[in-house]
Amino acid sequence: MVNYGLKDRVIAITGGASGIGRSAALAAATDGAHVAVLDVNQDNIDKTLTELRAKNVKAEGYALDVRDEVAMGKVAKAVESDLGPVYGLFSSAGISRTAPAEKVALADFEAVLDVNVNGVFLAAREFAQAMIQRGRGAIVNVGSIDGLGGHPGRLHYVSSKHAVAGLTKSLALEWGRYGVRVNAIMPGFVDTPLLRANMPEKYIERVVFDRTPLGRMANSDEIAAVAMMLLSDSASYMSGAIVPVDGGMTAGFLTRGQGGDYASKNLLSQGVYSE
Ligand code: NAI
Repeated sequence: MVNYGLKDRVIAITGGASGIGRSAALAAATDGAHVAVLDVNQDNIDKTLTELRAKNVKAEGYALDVRDEVAMGKVAKAVESDLGPVYGLFSSAGISRTAPAEKVALADFEAVLDVNVNGVFLAAREFAQAMIQRGRGAIVNVGSIDGLGGHPGRLHYVSSKHAVAGLTKSLALEWGRYGVRVNAIMPGFVDTPLLRANMPEKYIERVVFDRTPLGRMANSDEIAAVAMMLLSDSASYMSGAIVPVDGGMTAGFLTRGQGGDYASKNLLSQGVYSE
């Protein structure tokens, strides 16, 4: 098992009660870190805390909505007094919606940006206060490959994830002088409740196989592992990095032709690709 050197450090995780955030919480605890789980879902917080405490680390849950500025400020302080100086923040809380661009309602557009951008901003601003004071900290935000390019049917989500990349870079520029590193990971397709709720099985199967060099979805532990590395001292010279964790999907223009792409069908018939 990889040792990230996070033993006895305090890591706060938004969206820590499900999917990628939960995997990150478990990975941090397995490494010996004390974990604060911030999420709107109290039931899932409780389940995750049980799993975390079984690893003999301190773990506390905080039911909050990442859009709530006042609550975020209070929770950031509460985590410090409950668990100790917060070393790391992993911002994973996020939502997704789908609609054709010409039909996206303003309310839906704002709802996605509210959680995915405002939430990441507020968590970073509030948790960074003490990190800046101490001159030490690491923040990892969760973007998406949808923060690296467009994606039909996901205008609001794509806009929000591009904003996460911009926010991450700006924070890295401003807070490097305080010893606070800020990076983002951009996952591809990850098998979580969020993905299952937003994409039909057939689409997942076809698109993922068609476009991913590794030919499969990620499981959330594979995303959490990269987040742990970025939080750890192994990444002590990384800040402002936007790191795809996508099975190679954004490396170029691979298509195996399953999506009905004409050019790739031609290449298939020439034996350049195999089915
Ligand atoms: P998930 O739905 O399994 O977990 C998200 C967690 O965030 C849930 O526990 C939910 O209760 C919490 N949450 C949602 N809104 C919240 C709010 N307003 N305040 C506090 N907590 C809130 O989803 P998953 O897949 O683990 O997603 C985590 C992050 O990864 C998101 O930012 C998502 O956009 C991103 N991502 C996911 C990908 C995937 O394929 N699953 C791909 C690329 C990025």
